[in-house]
Amino acid sequence: MHEDKHIDMMVTEKPNSGGVIFMGYFTRPSWAILLLLFALITILSLQISTNSVSPLRVNTGPSEPHIPVDKSSCAGFFGESPERKTVMSITDFGGVGDGKTSNTEAFRRAVRYMQGLGEKGGAQLIVPKGRWLTGSFNLTSYFTLFLQEGAIILASQDPEEWPIIEPLPSYGRGRERLGGRHISLIHGDGLTNVVITGQNGTIDGQGRMWWEMWWNRTLKHTRGHLLELMNSRDILISNLTFRSSPFWTIHPVYCSNVVIKDMTILAPLNAPNTDGIDPDSSTNVCIEDCYIESGDDLVAIKSGWDQYGIAMARPSSNIIVRRISGTTPTCSGFGIGSEMSGGIFNVTVEDLHVWDSAAGLRIKTDQGRGGFIANITISNIKMERVKIPIRFSRGSNDHPDEKWDPNALPSVKGIYIGNVVSLNSTKAPVLQGIKNAQFEGVCMKNVSIIGIVSSASWHCEFVSGYTSGVFPSPCPQMQNNSSSSWCR
Ligand SMILES: *[C@@H]1O[C@H](CO)[C@@H](O)[C@H](O)[C@H]1NC(C)=O
Ligand SMILES: *[C@@H]1O[C@H](CO)[C@@H](O)[C@H](O)[C@H]1NC(C)=O
Ligand SMILES: *[C@@H]1O[C@H](CO)[C@@H](O)[C@H](O)[C@H]1NC(C)=O
Ligand SMILES: *[C@@H]1O[C@H](CO)[C@@H](O)[C@H](O)[C@H]1NC(C)=O
Ligand SMILES: *[C@@H]1O[C@H](CO)[C@@H](O)[C@H](O)[C@H]1NC(C)=O
Ligand SMILES: *[C@@H]1O[C@H](CO)[C@@H](O)[C@H](O)[C@H]1NC(C)=O
Ligand SMILES: *[C@@H]1O[C@H](CO)[C@@H](O)[C@H](O)[C@H]1NC(C)=O
Ligand SMILES: *[C@@H]1O[C@H](CO)[C@@H](O)[C@H](O)[C@H]1NC(C)=O
Ligand SMILES: *[C@@H]1O[C@H](CO)[C@@H](O)[C@H](O)[C@H]1NC(C)=O
Ligand SMILES: *[C@@H]1O[C@H](CO)[C@@H](O)[C@H](O)[C@H]1NC(C)=O
Repeated sequence: MHEDKHIDMMVTEKPNSGGVIFMGYFTRPSWAILLLLFALITILSLQISTNSVSPLRVNTGPSEPHIPVDKSSCAGFFGESPERKTVMSITDFGGVGDGKTSNTEAFRRAVRYMQGLGEKGGAQLIVPKGRWLTGSFNLTSYFTLFLQEGAIILASQDPEEWPIIEPLPSYGRGRERLGGRHISLIHGDGLTNVVITGQNGTIDGQGRMWWEMWWNRTLKHTRGHLLELMNSRDILISNLTFRSSPFWTIHPVYCSNVVIKDMTILAPLNAPNTDGIDPDSSTNVCIEDCYIESGDDLVAIKSGWDQYGIAMARPSSNIIVRRISGTTPTCSGFGIGSEMSGGIFNVTVEDLHVWDSAAGLRIKTDQGRGGFIANITISNIKMERVKIPIRFSRGSNDHPDEKWDPNALPSVKGIYIGNVVSLNSTKAPVLQGIKNAQFEGVCMKNVSIIGIVSSASWHCEFVSGYTSGVFPSPCPQMQNNSSSSWCR
């Protein structure tokens, strides 16, 4: 929004400021120059008016569709909610929204029925106002799940209703426990054209039972996500509230063309591993206008774990994250890793607002991860009371099994961080690269970390880069001019 306004202003001011420059230059204009100026202005305004009214212009591109040039919208990744020919309610499949009756079979019946409608114009399943208790169910293609205002899907408290599925090949095992993992509450594999939206209805994972199993060490298999889509494309998730996921909330993995926008994602601030949105080995992902508060990273980009992620070699790329705000007291606003073994590149993060958090921007990797992180651009970041606003860190010996390769070192190259203001922070940037795998081409411009003691110094290890306009003054490793080519 703010950015749009700025661009508009610049466009409308252009002819004016041009004029101002002319007048300033010719301080004592002669008649001839004034005439010339008058002629110039006349030509200019004529051009402007012909441009806006000329019928020629309308005719130049006869069949060219009007594509709005709106840079700050995810529309280019996957369009607005497509119309579906068949529209039915969960009540048509025997659903009961009393908060007590199980709707697991109703949802599964609905999806089974709608599976056949993909070729016939697609289908939309409406969840009306009410409390709809359910176990896990799968989605289908050319399908919309629509939660009307006041609709609440409540996750079953019976772990058996979250059956065990195969681990992800890029992880080799469940992320938390060996072997398989609990399926997500809402799940999809190999789908095309799926929309999950509504009038700010809620999907509530009722995750407390799972967090307690994690805390009291009785968890047998890795916890399920609130929503996981695998091997899918053309996905839109919007205008809903997701609450209390057992584990990472939204997990697109091996997906492409994914839009996640206008979402509210909430979990208690101490709920373990309740990341907001984790694009994983996915490409063309656009995340915008979300409010997230949770017990782990608001948004974290991943791409597989150690030797399994290296073998699968499925990167996360072409990702936009913008206008995200929120808080996570123990983790970071925006994170990369620590699982990044398939590679992560071409990521743009902008207009982030993070407060009362442990870290603002964090890159996590480690020995054994392999893979690479490249071409990451982060700008316009506002933070308040964030302990370590910018942090690159090594993991803490977090490997899938004994077979990880100590020689698999990640390559981190080309990280741009600009226009950052952090108020009431505790620490200057902490940049810890990896021995024999120095992070290179790290560029920071216009970064102000305010409210720390004036003697606070950067902590830099195995990192090299370029800084300009940063406060407090950077470590020597970040005053390297030769790597400034990455800085625009
Ligand atoms: C949902 O899909 C998974 C695989 O993605 C499968 O294992 C499971 O049986 C499916 N569940 C239902 C109810 O069809
Ligand atoms: C989003 O939800 C709000 C609140 O229910 C509703 O008024 C609005 O129309 C929805 N927007 C879209 C694009 O569906
Ligand atoms: C949607 O609901 C959540 C939770 O009640 C609320 O915080 C949020 O402001 C609502 N969003 C919109 C767009 O109304
Ligand atoms: C651990 O938490 C789960 C979920 O709340 C509970 O069912 C179980 O009894 C607890 N186990 C122990 C040993 O406290
Ligand atoms: C980077 O990703 C954006 C989308 O986020 C895409 O438009 C652009 O073409 C990509 N750049 C390259 C060099 O692939
Ligand atoms: C990163 O960007 C540079 C310069 O645009 C390009 O040459 C390089 O191929 C990119 N690397 C990756 C992994 O995208
Ligand atoms: C520096 O960053 C701040 C915060 O994003 C921004 O308000 C300011 O305009 C930037 N200054 C320059 C010269 O770009
Ligand atoms: C920063 O700390 C000062 C002093 O404690 C306080 O007055 C101010 O409101 C704080 N600002 C923010 C943005 O937290
Ligand atoms: C940057 O400078 C450091 C010394 O501070 C040096 O070790 C490193 O090789 C330089 N990096 C580049 C890319 O030139
Ligand atoms: C590095 O850049 C600074 C400022 O841009 C300049 O003053 C200095 O001479 C440069 N150092 C080298 C070795 O080029």
